[in-house]
Amino acid sequence: MEFKDIVTRRYATKQFQPRTIPEETIKELLELVRWAPSGLNLQPWRIKVVADAETKALLEPATPDEPQIKSCSHLLVFCVDTDFGAQCERLSRAMKEHGVPERVHDIVMGIATEMSHLPPSEMQAWLQSQVYIAATHALLGATALGLDSCPMTHFLPDKYSRILGLPSHLRAVLLVALGYGADEPHPKWRYPLEEILL
Ligand SMILES: Cc1cc2nc3c(=O)[nH]c(=O)nc-3n(C[C@H](O)[C@H](O)[C@H](O)COP(=O)(O)O)c2cc1C
Repeated sequence: MEFKDIVTRRYATKQFQPRTIPEETIKELLELVRWAPSGLNLQPWRIKVVADAETKALLEPATPDEPQIKSCSHLLVFCVDTDFGAQCERLSRAMKEHGVPERVHDIVMGIATEMSHLPPSEMQAWLQSQVYIAATHALLGATALGLDSCPMTHFLPDKYSRILGLPSHLRAVLLVALGYGADEPHPKWRYPLEEILL
């Protein structure tokens, strides 16, 4: 599928058919997500894949007025890993394992050290923005694989943490519901380029 077709075919799906996505397709999609870029190549995301009806039913009240939670085949819960220190240690190890030149390793870790002094709210915003890039891979990748999807931030993260038993350094920031659309897409509209360009 051409990229332009992917971009125009994707729509925020509110109702899915009662049809399960094959596990192979989910694996293919997660593989596309895995290759998302991130600042420092930190990859500060973890994803909980929810496919069972029981967990979806538990999450429903924590996702008010979002019926797609119930009808979707799979729900990807994108979490941000807020433990910057631990992730930097992991990053340093991984760069060495992957043969990243020492000079590059040291530059990256130097930037990471500078960043470690950011105020917590700025750090949280930076980490979270990386997770959105991975979620964008999921949205566009889903369309490329013949799936429909809905991104969602309208949910209660604290309740998600409790229901999914997330450790305290992980926080759900964005959901991607996946399946086969049963609704008619709304006509798309966007601001014209002249309102975007400065
Ligand atoms: C970060 C983000 C959060 C969103 N949150 C929700 C949501 O909680 N519930 C919902 O129904 N749609 C949600 N949407 C879908 C948007 O409403 C939708 O993408 C937008 O209206 C444009 O429509 P389109 O995606 O069909 O082109 C979200 C989209 C994004 C990118």
